[in-house]
Amino acid sequence: MVNRIHYFSGLILSVFIAFHLSNQLFSLFGVAAHIEMMTLLRTVYRHIIVETVLLLTVAFQVVTGIKLLFNKRKKSMVEKVQLYSGLYLSLFLIIHVAAVMYGRQLQLDTNFYFAAAGMNMYPINLVFIPYYFFAVVAIALHLSSLHYLKTKSKKVSYGIAVIGIIVAILIIIGYTNALKWREVPAEYQNFICISSSSNFFRNSVVLR
Ligand code: HEM
Repeated sequence: MVNRIHYFSGLILSVFIAFHLSNQLFSLFGVAAHIEMMTLLRTVYRHIIVETVLLLTVAFQVVTGIKLLFNKRKKSMVEKVQLYSGLYLSLFLIIHVAAVMYGRQLQLDTNFYFAAAGMNMYPINLVFIPYYFFAVVAIALHLSSLHYLKTKSKKVSYGIAVIGIIVAILIIIGYTNALKWREVPAEYQNFICISSSSNFFRNSVVLR
C-alpha cells in the first residue's frame, strides 16, 4: 500500500520536476530567459490549489519514502540504488523547499538568483554545486533503477542515468556561466550570509 501511494505521488511530482528542470536548463540561454520561463511556469504552480497539491505531494513522497527505507527485506544492488538516491532526494526536498519558503517569508523573490547565489559565492559554492548536482543525478538514478526493476531493460535504464548526469552538468554550467561565474544581487548575497550556520560560510563572497 505504502509502495503504491509512493509510486502515484511520485508520478504527480515527476510532472512538476520535468518542467522545473527544463526551467533550470534555460539558465544556459541566460538569466533573462530563465526568469521569463519561471514567470510563465509560476502562473501554474503558484496557483493556490496547484501549489497546495504540490507541497502535499512533496510531504507524502518524503514520508512514504522514509517508511520504505525501513523495510527490512534483503535488497538487491539496484534496489539499494533506488533507496539511497531516494533518501538523498528526500533530504534535498526538505531543505530545498524549506529554503524557498523561508526566502519567500523574507519577501525575497526566489527566482534564478536565489539558487545562483549559493553556486556563485565562495566558499559556499563548494557545498551548493554538489548539492544541486547530486539532486538531479539522484532523480535520474531513482527513475533509472525503478525502470530497471519494472522492465529489466538495462539499455534504457543506463540511458536514463546518463541523460540525468548530462542534465546535471548542463544546469551547473548554466548557473555558473561555465565556472566563469555570475553576478549576484546584494539581497541574495545577504540571504546566503544570514542563513549560513558557520562563520566560514557566512563570510562567502561573490566570485564575479
Ligand atoms: C539544479 C537543480 C535545482 C535548482 C537550481 C532549483 C531551483 C529552485 C528555485 C529557484 C525555486 C523557487 C521557484 C519559485 O520561486 O518559483 C525552486 C522551488 C522548488 N523546487 Fe527546485 N531546483 C532544483 C531542483 C529541484 C528538484 C530536483 C526538485 C524535486 C525533487 C525540486 C523541487 C522544488 C519544489 C517542490 C519547489 C517549490 C515550488 C513552489 O511551490 O514554489 N527542485 N527550485
